[in-house]
Amino acid sequence: MSGVRKRLGLKNPLCLALDLTDKNQGISVLKDIGPLFGMVKCGPVPFLSWGQDFLQISESLGLPVFLDLKWHDIPNTLLETLSRLPSPAIRMVTIHAQGGAAMVAAARRSLDRSGPDPAALIAVTLLTHLTEDEVKAMGYKSREEGVTRLGSVALQSGADGLVMSPGELSRARQLWGEEPFLVTPGIRPTGPTGAGDDQVNARSPQEALSEGSDLLVVGRPILAAPDPREATLSLLAGISQKPSKRP
Ligand code: C5P
Repeated sequence: MSGVRKRLGLKNPLCLALDLTDKNQGISVLKDIGPLFGMVKCGPVPFLSWGQDFLQISESLGLPVFLDLKWHDIPNTLLETLSRLPSPAIRMVTIHAQGGAAMVAAARRSLDRSGPDPAALIAVTLLTHLTEDEVKAMGYKSREEGVTRLGSVALQSGADGLVMSPGELSRARQLWGEEPFLVTPGIRPTGPTGAGDDQVNARSPQEALSEGSDLLVVGRPILAAPDPREATLSLLAGISQKPSKRP
């Protein structure tokens, strides 16, 4: 098992994206079903409206937090930012690989200074909403080329892993092997969905795991379910029925 997987020691590969703005509703969901998950994700939406409570409650329940604020700034600011993570519950953070090698390396140095058990550093390559035209306007020949170049820069500069859509997993494992910790949103209980879903190349949890994902980030399929606990237990049962090919 690679260093970062061992360090994180997650009890399962399911991560709840708790994208709720309402503090009371968020707290109640976090306390009720948060403990079923390997991780809970705090993105900018809950962070700005009830971030301190999110962190404190997770800390008191022993829930590892994925703080998904996707930082992209000058190296010195990243260095200062990551040395001030406000809770030991924060076990994973995201940055944009487009910040470049020096920024990723600064983030790495800053986290490593926190002690022997730093939060995992995960880089975003190209956001999934970008069209092929937008990707070309940014100077890449294709999305594939952009993801490859940005992913390589991030991993060579100290990132522990990458965020990507499930459709990019197989290629990522071919390119970078088993070491990187790969995080995938775009998880749908029944696999690929049609138009109307903003997730690109969605996969079922079992599919994503067998294609090489380490962490399945799931939000609306659970938060919008009539019974979020039942929806979570059903996803967990599906995962345990079909073990992943991951080491
Ligand atoms: O779609 P769902 O609610 O399961 O999304 C879970 C997480 O996936 C969200 O917190 C969001 O940050 C992320 N997401 C993404 N790309 C999209 C849509 C959502 O990375 N196209």
